[in-house]
Amino acid sequence: MNAVSTTRKRIGVLISGRGSNMAALLRNDCGGDVVVVGSNKAEAKGLELAQDAGIETFALSHKSFASREAFDAALIEQLETYRLDLLVLAGFMRILTPQFTDHFAGRLLNIHPSLLPSYPGLDTHERALNDGVKLHGCTVHFVTSVLDHGPIIAQAAVQVEDDDTPETLAAKVLVQEHQILPYAVRLFCEDRLQANGLRVSVRPIAPVIVKHA
Ligand code: GRF
Repeated sequence: MNAVSTTRKRIGVLISGRGSNMAALLRNDCGGDVVVVGSNKAEAKGLELAQDAGIETFALSHKSFASREAFDAALIEQLETYRLDLLVLAGFMRILTPQFTDHFAGRLLNIHPSLLPSYPGLDTHERALNDGVKLHGCTVHFVTSVLDHGPIIAQAAVQVEDDDTPETLAAKVLVQEHQILPYAVRLFCEDRLQANGLRVSVRPIAPVIVKHA
């Protein structure tokens, strides 16, 4: 039987823009505490949201580093000061080096706006519309060194309507992102996720045993 930790997990979140997924993590009880929000862009709107919620933030511009490796090394160093149990990529628009993904292996999650393994990468809504798919959606997965690939924790699908545009589809998918990200983080914080290769199973909640005298 796996030991279930009783201490609340320390969560870090990385963003690059408006931070609505990060805000969804703050709004919902994810079973852990967001202790820091970081960004590669100082102007990311989400940093203000986090500050307003009393969360520590930092910005580290990738432009100040000569290489991807140097930026990732500095990011690891910065994140290490927060003793994180979990790091969530919530709209963090940077490709990470294997050095980074290996460092956080097993405790690094990403939210992606497509039903992976379909449409890794950018412009997912437009590509889905061009392919004429009837179902589209979003995925939360453990991050590996392969972009937008890794054991899938949760997915949600939306129906593609005849009059959908990339913008309307993005808005519908975003509503679902805000549901499945806190859900997946909660499962992680409750130590309920078990990855076996690419398959992730969810352990049931341990029953509470009440002893009567
Ligand atoms: C989301 O659609 C996320 O899936 C993608 O980038 C977008 C970020 O939105 N990777 P937000 O910053 O969380 O509002």
